Amino acid sequence: MNNAHSIILEAKGLSKRFGGLIAVDEVSIAVQKLGVTSIIGPNGAGKSTLFNLLSGTFLPDNGAVHIDGVDVTRLSPEGRLFSGMARSFQITNLFFDLTVMDNLRIASQVLEPRSHLYLPLEKSEIALKRANELLEEFGLEDSRGQLAGALSHGQQRRLEIAVTLATRPKLLLLDEPTQGMSQVDTHETADLIKRVGLNTTVLLIEHDVDLVMDLSKTVFVMAQGRKLAEGAPGEVRKNPLVQAAYFGEELA
Ligand SMILES: Nc1ncnc2c1ncn2[C@@H]1O[C@H](COP(=O)(O)OP(=O)(O)OP(=O)(O)O)[C@@H](O)[C@H]1O
Ligand SMILES: [Mg+2]
Repeated sequence: MNNAHSIILEAKGLSKRFGGLIAVDEVSIAVQKLGVTSIIGPNGAGKSTLFNLLSGTFLPDNGAVHIDGVDVTRLSPEGRLFSGMARSFQITNLFFDLTVMDNLRIASQVLEPRSHLYLPLEKSEIALKRANELLEEFGLEDSRGQLAGALSHGQQRRLEIAVTLATRPKLLLLDEPTQGMSQVDTHETADLIKRVGLNTTVLLIEHDVDLVMDLSKTVFVMAQGRKLAEGAPGEVRKNPLVQAAYFGEELA
């Protein structure tokens, strides 16, 4: 149902310029609760910039962002964390010279009461418990003591998703989580994202069109900073504008 209560994230007329370039041009999207909603589009379409506006990394030149009906446009990324939004980046932000377990514990530290802020990590029981849950949920138990930098690319991306879920966000933004992955890792990650979507709203930027079509309930298509189309995967795939701008003739 497309009513106001089912919408968790809304962007209204968001724009962002870099000098003479309009990277995001009057983009409005409404993301419904739960499941996976995806953003696709050619390189340079403005997808990551839109994520940066949604997550508070950049302030928009125009427009607004609402989470659960609350205007968060001027809130920092940290402020948005407390509204239940978390994100991953197109470029990894793991601590490569720390272990898998320590990456998860640090990410989970936000769950501790403020008075525990300066406790040594090993005394942070809430964070420890959450890190152990994530190790199990993401099948990373065997690598708990390994340095994040020594993991395979696929495992690193998996750990990254686990890290972003540490604070139990209700809204998760993932920017190309399967970038550079083998086919097997891509499929595993797709299954994982689907599972996360059962109790979290996932907004996904993804290049692999088949994967997007399989995972998503709604797809937004961007090209040259603008929203070109939106709808269910089947509808979007048939849209002539999208075919011309993005898919090419072979999918007709
Ligand atoms: N910090 C920045 N400063 C200047 N220009 C930028 C900046 N970030 C992005 N751009 C430009 O804005 C446009 C949109 O870039 P963006 O990274 O949002 O695209 P994208 O859709 O995520 O592309 P990709 O699929 O390659 O990741 C591009 O022309 C890019 O060069
Ligand atoms: Mg990008």
